[in-house]
Amino acid sequence: MMISLVLPAGHTIRSLRHEDLADVHAIECSSQEHPWTVAQFEAELDNPVAAIDVYFVDQAVAGFICSWLIAGELQIQNIATAASWRRRGVAGRLLERVLERSFSTGLQSAWLEVRASNQSAVALYRRYGFAEHDRRPNYYHDGEDALVMCLLADHHGE
Ligand SMILES: CC(C)(COP(=O)(O)OP(=O)(O)OC[C@H]1O[C@@H](n2cnc3c(N)ncnc32)[C@H](O)[C@@H]1OP(=O)(O)O)[C@@H](O)C(=O)NCCC(=O)NCCS
Repeated sequence: MMISLVLPAGHTIRSLRHEDLADVHAIECSSQEHPWTVAQFEAELDNPVAAIDVYFVDQAVAGFICSWLIAGELQIQNIATAASWRRRGVAGRLLERVLERSFSTGLQSAWLEVRASNQSAVALYRRYGFAEHDRRPNYYHDGEDALVMCLLADHHGE
């Protein structure tokens, strides 16, 4: 049976609001080689299939995850943790929150694409049960391969 996610004291997760955009974008810029713009985050606020969950420690933004519910699947679009909060469970809890919410509504699978060289992200996804499903050669502009990873609802929490 799935156990509901419990956050440490002072930690909260809630949906992105306009007032969070600057902090979320700062984390994005310090985490990604080709960061999303503020306008891209704003567009997600108006995208009916998108959700951006933001992780707070007290009042400070520590990380975020963007996901889409589309064609009966969950797609993880983006996830990042502020450098000072890494390896303290932030991304894992964000992922767990989104997976619990989606699978509890009957979704059967979650999918994502990740740069083959992004060892920390691949390790994170494996830790939460994702398995490599496919490899897309030269997927990114710079020629790097993408790994397509998948988690089936039946395997969540194993
Ligand atoms: C990938 C990323 C989101 C992980 O965030 P995080 O909050 O540090 O992750 P967590 O602390 O929840 O880690 C959970 C597990 O993932 C794995 N993991 C995370 N970072 C890792 C690293 N640098 N090396 C190896 N394993 C790692 C570990 O299994 C870890 O558990 P452990 O700490 O008990 O060993 C973060 O490194 C980041 O923001 N990277 C830049 C953005 C990015 O690459 N996003 C993904 C592609 S869009």
